[in-house]
Amino acid sequence: MRMKYEEPIEIAENTYWVGHYDEEAGFHCNPYLIDDGEEAVLIDPGGITHYPHVLKKVIRAVDLDRIHHIILHHQDPDLCASTPRYEELINHEVTVYNPLRASFFIPYYGIKSRVVPIRRDGEALVLKSGRRLEFYLTPFVHFAGSMVTYDTRSKVLFSSDIFGAFSFDWSLYARDDYLEAVKAFLEPYVGSKKALENVARKLEQLDIEVIAPQHGSIITDNIPEFIQALREMDAGVYLE
Ligand SMILES: [Fe+2]
Ligand SMILES: [Fe+2]
Repeated sequence: MRMKYEEPIEIAENTYWVGHYDEEAGFHCNPYLIDDGEEAVLIDPGGITHYPHVLKKVIRAVDLDRIHHIILHHQDPDLCASTPRYEELINHEVTVYNPLRASFFIPYYGIKSRVVPIRRDGEALVLKSGRRLEFYLTPFVHFAGSMVTYDTRSKVLFSSDIFGAFSFDWSLYARDDYLEAVKAFLEPYVGSKKALENVARKLEQLDIEVIAPQHGSIITDNIPEFIQALREMDAGVYLE
């Protein structure tokens, strides 16, 4: 059954995929929104090209003025560039969470919000409801300043580019051959196996039910196998 990709899609408790599905494209970005009552959190809102589509879905899911927090997992344009547009539309201060080593770069998008630089594993955004979003640094996978977010309530891991994929035949949920697609995407972008092993070690400690990456498809099955695959991937070679 085809999903209604023109609507926000609930992927976990009050957690929505608000991305744009372009049937012609081989690469999709996945922005997410957590609606936690008084506060909403926008995660990797995306670039400029998809912005009008994403905005429409965000507005359908929540009143923009309930967005108080924006998480940017690193500094790439495909997740950060539309942030100043949201700042213009939201009638109050928002707080941006970004790894320390990326936080020197994001002001160049014109982002004006207060930025909380994440320096350590386990630092968290605690919402008024008590819901705790924990950050884990994933250095050099793929940028020096990269992180992921773990929602301790829903057990969703927002994994950024980790577990992303190129996908000409895209679906929101991963199919059986998705692990191969993940390897093909990640290996050319990561410089060292040590960096991948470090990430695998951290993710193995978490009780993850859903992996929601910033590209490709959402993973709900065989999660330990996907994490183990990080240890087996090649890295550090430039694949021409
Ligand atoms: Fe990236
Ligand atoms: Fe990305």
